[in-house]
Amino acid sequence: MANATELLQADAAGYAAASAIWSAGGLVAFPTETVYGLGADARNDRAVARIFEAKGRPRFNPLIVHVASAQAARRYVEWSDAAELLASVFWPGPLTLVLPLLADAGLSPLVTAELPTLAIRVPAHPVAQGLLTEFGGPVAAPSANPSGRISPTTAAHVLAGLSGRIEAVIEGGACAVGVESTIVGLVGRPSLLRPGGVPVESIESLLDADLVRHSADDPLVAPGQMQSHYAPGAPVRLDARERRAGEVLLGFGPVDADLNLSPSGDLVEAAANLFGHLHALDSRGAPIAVSPIPETGLGRAINDRLRRAAAPRDERLPG
Ligand code: TXA
Ligand code: MG
Repeated sequence: MANATELLQADAAGYAAASAIWSAGGLVAFPTETVYGLGADARNDRAVARIFEAKGRPRFNPLIVHVASAQAARRYVEWSDAAELLASVFWPGPLTLVLPLLADAGLSPLVTAELPTLAIRVPAHPVAQGLLTEFGGPVAAPSANPSGRISPTTAAHVLAGLSGRIEAVIEGGACAVGVESTIVGLVGRPSLLRPGGVPVESIESLLDADLVRHSADDPLVAPGQMQSHYAPGAPVRLDARERRAGEVLLGFGPVDADLNLSPSGDLVEAAANLFGHLHALDSRGAPIAVSPIPETGLGRAINDRLRRAAAPRDERLPG
């Protein structure tokens, strides 16, 4: 376990330091365009085990592997025409593909929780790209938050949750997309495993087919999609048309709110603000009411996270 967590700068010296920590089996949190990830060398059992320990994450919940290019991804998974099409349009970017794991991939079995499939993505953030290129190997990285809590979109959020439990975090500013990657399963018919930063509509129009939908809490589909997740300390009430006594209001559109995801009703802006505003309102300690958000484009990912944030806590399995 680390003692003091070092804040590294996003420059050549910072990349070299982060890469050396990964090579030595340590943990470094780094910015991606979606949220900050908590990275370790995906080939190193001990390093990957430390990710689960630092987050308090159950071992049955597999991790996403991050690589610098689609070319690099093909060393770990069975590639397909659908993978090529999606990767050619959305990589680098906020899309994760779940594909059959190659027998000789060389990854720690902890990464996939012993599933025969691997979730893999090529992040677009220049700092993530710089780091992955410098390191030259596969980096397993869940979101850099204690399991079940609000995801981090700044280095300060990472430190608030994990300081002293990880070796370092790279300072890369606020994440531009603000919600995690969309996860598409490509084993059998293409399916939506988690709504996220690439709108489902864009994927379906590219594939010219609807994605297979699963019930949101089907544990077999995305083992980490726990009912209660992204949970602030305070209770959360959705579809709030007004603020009740004692509540703070997280607004959307032209409403009088304590914090507003997007006063103009822009879903891209709202996604970028979602976790930061939840962190900020949570620190006030009052129940949080949230304005209705349309279920289109990035609204699907926002509503997915908000429904989990509002889910009864006794259903919480750490995720
Ligand atoms: O944007 C993101 O995807 C961020 C950044 C850091 O890349 N990462 C992220 O990781 O959100 P995490 O661990 O918070 O969420 C990964 C999700 C979990 O729900 C997990 O169960 C699912 O991906 N997953 C991982 N491997 C899987 C697999 N082989 N099959 C199905 N679901 C998988
Ligand atoms: Mg997460």
